[in-house]
Amino acid sequence: MSRGLSLRKGAAGARILGFGDYRPRRIVTNDEISQRVDTTDEWIRTRVGISERRFAGDDESVVDMSVAAAGKALATSGVLAQDIDTVIVATCSAPAPIPGLAPEVAHRLAISAPGAFDLNAACAGFCYGLSAAADAIRSGSARYALVIGAEKLTDWTDQDDRGTCIIFGDGAGAAVVAASDTPGVGPVVWGSDGEKSRAISVAGRSSFMTMDGRAVYRWATTQLADSAHRACELAGVDIGEIDVFVPHQANLRIVDSMLRTMKFKDDVAVARDIVYSGNTSSASIPLALTAMIERGEAKTGDTALLLGFGAGLTYAGQVIICP
Ligand SMILES: CC(C)(COP(=O)(O)OP(=O)(O)OC[C@H]1O[C@@H](n2cnc3c(N)ncnc32)[C@H](O)[C@@H]1OP(=O)(O)O)[C@@H](O)C(=O)NCCC(=O)NCCS
Repeated sequence: MSRGLSLRKGAAGARILGFGDYRPRRIVTNDEISQRVDTTDEWIRTRVGISERRFAGDDESVVDMSVAAAGKALATSGVLAQDIDTVIVATCSAPAPIPGLAPEVAHRLAISAPGAFDLNAACAGFCYGLSAAADAIRSGSARYALVIGAEKLTDWTDQDDRGTCIIFGDGAGAAVVAASDTPGVGPVVWGSDGEKSRAISVAGRSSFMTMDGRAVYRWATTQLADSAHRACELAGVDIGEIDVFVPHQANLRIVDSMLRTMKFKDDVAVARDIVYSGNTSSASIPLALTAMIERGEAKTGDTALLLGFGAGLTYAGQVIICP
């Protein structure tokens, strides 16, 4: 019989200390898009809920935006870069597969030799990354982690395809996650349906993203409510007690459909950042929540239900306590 190994002793829990975001400078309206493809402002607003989105420029790479969002999250949380020991960049729009972006992001933030890796769970990426960070903290592998969701989806979107170009935008959001005696990141409920892996995909290095919008819409509006309820149950919070709901910003009609299915309290604050940001995949949840915190819609100590879902198909949700 082989001997067992020693394990580190981790923290009782993990807690988010601060969020940060970066929104690219260039605002692209529906009217601008309708000058290039056959669509209208009215169609986009009623079918998807988007009024405008941001497109990143040449000096706004996934790394640039990650560094900016993470720098803001560090400043908000009061944690020093030198204290960070783990950096996770959730993205599905890295310009190349090698190297991963997290080590460069860490270097530019003057974080010394952290564990650093990229994670691709598409639009569920931030919630997967948050779970990985919280579990690393609980198992003793980390004490202070940066979790970043960053996308430059315009690099992978055909601006002549009206099925996708109206939806996707660019941006980054980040959170500082730290060891805590009072847990502020609940257990994740995650899963996937690889049978539908072609519903959103990029076929190769010179291809753009293709999407079966109807299939994704049907899946998101019928399959995810149970997971959200289960995430609340595991965190010991009734869904009627949730103060803030931050679903992935894929389509406003998907958000509204979820609100009809789930039994939130009447005055739950709901993220609707898609109106101004479009769908920014793994960046959408931290972007939306940072804005809600800054506007005072999400307050310190509030319970927030996060729910990411997208290509893969993947999903992940957890309850957090707002910093
Ligand atoms: C993509 C999406 C907005 C399309 O909306 P939809 O209501 O399903 O639209 P359909 O594809 O069924 O098309 C309906 C009609 O609108 C037209 N249409 C499609 N895109 C259009 C556009 N941008 N502007 C104007 N008309 C458009 C279609 O050609 C079709 O016309 P027809 O009835 O004459 O054939 C919607 O399916 C969606 O948001 N799905 C989820 C996508 C998503 O969330 N993806 C990211 C996951 S992370």
